[in-house]
Amino acid sequence: MISQQSIQQVYAAATIEDVVSYYVELRKRGANLLGLCPFHDEKTPSFTVSPAKNIYKCFGCGKGGDPVRFVMEHDTLSYPEAIRWLAARYNIELEESREDNDAYLEQKQEKESLQVINDYARDYFVNNLWETQDGKAIALSYFKERGFREATIKKFDLGYATVTPDDFTKQAVTKQYNIELLRTLGLTSKRDYDFFRDRVMFTIHNVSGKPIAFAGRTLVTGNKKIPKYINSPETPIYNKSNVLYAMHLAKSTITKQNNCYLVEGYTDVISLHQGGIENVVASSGTSLTPGQIKLIKRYADTITLLYDGDAAGIKAALRGLDLILAQGLNVFLVTLPESHDPDSYLQEVGKTDFEAYIETTRQDFIVYQAKTIAEDYKTDPIGKARAVNDVIKTLSIITDSIKRTFYIQQCAEILKMQEIVIQREVTKVIKTKITQQKTRKKFNNDNKGANNPGPYGGGSQGGYAGDPGPSAADEAQWITEKPTSHGQVISQPINNDGYQERDLARICLAAGDKKVEVDNEMVTIAAYIYSSIFDVIDHFDEPIYRDIIIEIFNQVEKGEFSQEHYTRHENELIRNLTINAIADKYFYATWPTPMHSQKIPMENFEKDSLQAILRFKYKKLKKIIGELKERITALAEAGDEDKLTIALLALKQLNEEKRSLGDQLGTTYG
Ligand code: CTP
Ligand code: MN
Repeated sequence: MISQQSIQQVYAAATIEDVVSYYVELRKRGANLLGLCPFHDEKTPSFTVSPAKNIYKCFGCGKGGDPVRFVMEHDTLSYPEAIRWLAARYNIELEESREDNDAYLEQKQEKESLQVINDYARDYFVNNLWETQDGKAIALSYFKERGFREATIKKFDLGYATVTPDDFTKQAVTKQYNIELLRTLGLTSKRDYDFFRDRVMFTIHNVSGKPIAFAGRTLVTGNKKIPKYINSPETPIYNKSNVLYAMHLAKSTITKQNNCYLVEGYTDVISLHQGGIENVVASSGTSLTPGQIKLIKRYADTITLLYDGDAAGIKAALRGLDLILAQGLNVFLVTLPESHDPDSYLQEVGKTDFEAYIETTRQDFIVYQAKTIAEDYKTDPIGKARAVNDVIKTLSIITDSIKRTFYIQQCAEILKMQEIVIQREVTKVIKTKITQQKTRKKFNNDNKGANNPGPYGGGSQGGYAGDPGPSAADEAQWITEKPTSHGQVISQPINNDGYQERDLARICLAAGDKKVEVDNEMVTIAAYIYSSIFDVIDHFDEPIYRDIIIEIFNQVEKGEFSQEHYTRHENELIRNLTINAIADKYFYATWPTPMHSQKIPMENFEKDSLQAILRFKYKKLKKIIGELKERITALAEAGDEDKLTIALLALKQLNEEKRSLGDQLGTTYG
């Protein structure tokens, strides 16, 4: 592990404006800097950098963070990778702490060595292609015949593996590369022969563009015994199911277009990139894996499958459909004219017609599925009934209810069924699922009672350790903030009091250490909020917000509160919450013009905190009153007069308190 001290050094050196302006042209705008967002396509700059706060925030797409986060997002690096990258840039020598256990170091070293060998292998194959007699005569000419330009061939690290059975291994061993590692990588056989022989070579890269595997295509045709493609095995640096071919070249365009084209073959990817369509990757002949879907989701929420006319590929892709939909991705399908793959079709008709073809023939995959079923089972009602169940299952996976309704209408029409019938069946499936989830959750909760630390996070300093809070998925469902076209951030509705709770946490994050006047006394916002909610602290619906408030309160009291702790927090939810909380206030001056007429968020901490506290308490009171009413019903049924009297008194009191809160909030809140 990199020592904390070194990380501090990196943070001290890497100022946000310096790091960002390495990639983005920034112009001064008041106290901030403004530029075109590198994370989405825009013509009017809404990407804002605050040197004062050392953070960035895009009001178009909502991305935000500190310098390290920027590097991570921009270059898709992990946290330590980003730290190392910045350290190298600022000439900081990183100190590795002793905590590293040997196994971890060994693993890391092995991976590094494997990477070095793959770099070498790539150079070897590429060099063969351009510099050797056979390479030029056999492989280079083949690629050129296929219409690949030299620049393209170089860009994709295409190469050649010679006929000589051990040419590569011999050279590698001479260069002192470890034979065992060569075997691990699948480059060399047990008996020291080359794995790739007499093949044109495709280099497979990770998202950072490092060669992690290879595929070799034979040029021999008509011999069924020779497989057309052979591929590197899985290795410590190559996990096939998490890799998409050419993602390193496609990712930025995928983000900009918010669409990822998926094709079957390496050559299809290369051809399309060369033809100017760069948001293309391939899954290398298999149906999509969850890991690959996640990878795509990092860059876009639409996948368009570009497949040959034949049904086999589509069937394979269909298998992955439910997985894709469950991730909330939109899926479209384009089938190419008979006997064409994307490569051949683009080369035949050119970019303009190719794109026009996609535009006019692309179908929604769910609709496509329904159509196929309707077609296949025209005369087979039993088969159709079974197939319709598949459609219903697919529809029930769509989490967005508006989207779901839309698809139910479409599918009903195609399948010639009543909408209400499908709707009912879908609802049934969803209900079953929810019940199952609840049972699971309850079971889990019942089993972890001993670990549940209650409101103070089990006394752990961190605050989040003991209580896991809501699962990331639960959080994500309602915390996701979708930017609108105006760059204003709105939140999706939720059923519980999470909104109010989040608001309080947000104010603490933005201004926990600022002081406000309460009853002629100056107190910190954190103390104000904490003391105001103390009596209902056990009633948080989302414990994570309670923990944030408590932690900030403790830090503020000790004079240890720092926003950086939260903008760098390992929990993404907390990090984003902080960035948004700070951004609202600090970037106001550079918001697009329509925003100027609106109230500055958080300009008045005192009023804001008071409102937030009132709203929070109002909601809580409502809930407590509800519970009390249930209890009263039970007591009345049991005929327990004494307790009933007390409960009724309490109810009266709470109702009064609620009314008073309502008055302070104005009108009919809640
Ligand atoms: N594939 C494979 N092994 C095979 C055949 C195919 O791994 N024996 C994978 C490769 O990723 C290939 C993709 O499936 O790119 C699509 O196969 P195909 O259309 O046959 O290959 P192309 O790449 O289109 O090759 P070409 O155009 O040169 O025929
Ligand atoms: Mn092909």
